[in-house]
Amino acid sequence: MQFKIQKGNGLKGEIIVPGDKSISHRAIMLASLADGKSEISGLLEGEDCNATIEVFRMMGISISKQKGNFLIEGKGLRGLEEPSGPLDFKNSGTSVRLCSGVLAAQEFSSTLIGDTSLSSRPMKRIIEPLGLMGANTSSTEEGTLPIMVEPVDSLQSIKYSLPVASAQVKSCLLFAGLYSQGITEIEEKITTRDHTERMFEQFGIPIEVFQSKAAKLIKLNKVEDINPTNINICGDFSSASFFILAALITPNSELLLRNVGVNSTRIGFLHALRHMGANIELKNEIKTFEPTADILVRTSTLKGITLNTNLVANMIDEMPAFFIAASLAEGITKVKDANELRTKESDRLQVMSEVLNSFGVKFRLEEDGILINGLGKNGTFKASEINSHGDHRIAMASSIGSLRSDGETSVLDCLNVNTSFPNFIDVCKEVGINIEAS
Ligand code: S3P
Repeated sequence: MQFKIQKGNGLKGEIIVPGDKSISHRAIMLASLADGKSEISGLLEGEDCNATIEVFRMMGISISKQKGNFLIEGKGLRGLEEPSGPLDFKNSGTSVRLCSGVLAAQEFSSTLIGDTSLSSRPMKRIIEPLGLMGANTSSTEEGTLPIMVEPVDSLQSIKYSLPVASAQVKSCLLFAGLYSQGITEIEEKITTRDHTERMFEQFGIPIEVFQSKAAKLIKLNKVEDINPTNINICGDFSSASFFILAALITPNSELLLRNVGVNSTRIGFLHALRHMGANIELKNEIKTFEPTADILVRTSTLKGITLNTNLVANMIDEMPAFFIAASLAEGITKVKDANELRTKESDRLQVMSEVLNSFGVKFRLEEDGILINGLGKNGTFKASEINSHGDHRIAMASSIGSLRSDGETSVLDCLNVNTSFPNFIDVCKEVGINIEAS
């Protein structure tokens, strides 16, 4: 699938973006492991979360949709059944890594597979600490899928300091920690998204979090059972980021994004943009288990910045959109300590540098970051053909960037947008973006 986008002007409207992908995965997982029925509203119906749903259905969990909400009939921590074949996580890194923590503790074997992109992503980061817990999980020699899980008598808790800033690794170990004898302690020196910790609390799982200046320490005891609960999932800040970008870079624009998750561990993009001079207001802030707000964004003149490296983990999925904003800012933007971008659905440093190149932006690519020489507030991108390499966030960031190009831009290999934002084209059209998919 490819998108064709025309130069933009005057984007206006109020929109609702789809449910948060990270929160949706965790809700499906915990509801499946709870003792009884949970009802989930606002769940993301994208391919990544559908993969998680299918995986739990294959293990005997009934998941149905009624009046727009999902009903999940959990069978308890020990209620999953042996799947009849390999569990296919398709494109979803979050799902395969988090579910590995659950599967490592089951009394049956399982094989975890994924698509070509997921099959090239690093899994040693979870295999190694799961091994320290006594799990029998293995991957290929290169540390990639398939992951083979063999049952063990029991898992033991560990004290583990995360070597990479990864919420997926942290969460994998927290899920395994639900089954592990003793207290699992996880230290993170760089704060990553805390949706698992929050979702555990929502399902009544006691979890303690100690925050010091140097690190965050999470403690979790083995759990016997999980209470079912009803969960309302907010809009995904990462999906919202494309429309925040669209309003900022398109002349005469004003967009209101309703009911978006603004968890402080997710909104580094917002802080970075404000630092660049972006006109973004948060309205109607609500402090529920995952805080939400309406986000009002207007066309802004942006200045280049040196990105505070503490923000990188909190805007890791927004980096493609951030690179586009930086390319249209006045002056230079520097990003470093962002090696993790190379381990995503594509090597996002490499692929985004190719996008910037096609757009005619000057930059210097480094091993762990990039220096971007912004074109300034009147700058325009060269209309071109962009290859998104089947990466949803690259496809959407480049499509939105095309609003500032000097003609029609084509973005190739966009089908993967369905993993996180299946109605992206419809929402684009709603606010006045001239985009067609073919
Ligand atoms: C996610 C964590 C991040 C993020 C991914 C979702 C999660 O990955 O990039 O899209 O839901 O825990 P890492 O943990 O690999 O940084």
